[in-house]
Amino acid sequence: MATTDSHVTIHMVASLDGFIARKDGSVDWLETSDEFVGGDTMDPESIEAFLKTIDCYVMGSRTYETALGFEAKGLGWSYGEKPTFVLTHRELPRTRDTVELYSGDLARFVNERLRPMFRNIWFVGGGVVSGECLRLGLADEVRYSILPILIGDGIPFFEKLDRDIALHLAEVKAYQSGMVGLRYEVRGKAAA
Ligand SMILES: NC(=O)c1ccc[n+]([C@@H]2O[C@H](COP(=O)([O-])OP(=O)(O)OC[C@H]3O[C@@H](n4cnc5c(N)ncnc54)[C@H](OP(=O)(O)O)[C@@H]3O)[C@@H](O)[C@H]2O)c1
Repeated sequence: MATTDSHVTIHMVASLDGFIARKDGSVDWLETSDEFVGGDTMDPESIEAFLKTIDCYVMGSRTYETALGFEAKGLGWSYGEKPTFVLTHRELPRTRDTVELYSGDLARFVNERLRPMFRNIWFVGGGVVSGECLRLGLADEVRYSILPILIGDGIPFFEKLDRDIALHLAEVKAYQSGMVGLRYEVRGKAAA
């Protein structure tokens, strides 16, 4: 794991109207059924190889609670054996040793604790934590996977920002499932 070239990514899946969950937190709409002829496919081997490049995950407590709910229903744990840092002011249950709860100054945590230890740091939601990450200028990259669905209302991709954040579109991929993957680099990071 590198110490000097660490990279912070925010990644979430959203509806075309920019929501990551319904107002009540449900994500049943993530199962879409569309077909885009000629789109890319994601085979399990390349997904596995890609996931290996991620060194740790960071998430908000509500996202963690959703993940615990999935696990309790037998749907598995999406974050493998990778260290997973959960931001919370509460004493939440820890179902595995790879989970660590953290409360406090997010910028110090990322810059002084995570960046020296991990190369690829992935923020995986939700909207509150993604907003905090952007407001604090911690993200190098935003990955936005848009599903072919509109849900009308819900929890937005990120909570309100206090300024504009200029992005550079670095990659666009359209998939056979109808999902479009957008990868943006946060501009001006080097000078920040
Ligand atoms: N579509 C997708 O890809 C996707 C991805 C992720 C999540 N989701 C969905 O989004 C929903 C959750 O998103 P959300 O925006 O409501 O919540 P969230 O960002 O997951 O969690 C917010 C909570 O994290 C804690 N927190 C945030 N910053 C903190 C800090 N600096 N220190 C300590 N604790 C901190 C606070 O909870 P405490 O009260 O515990 O302190 C805060 O209320 C869920 O329904 C989930 O399923 C969807």
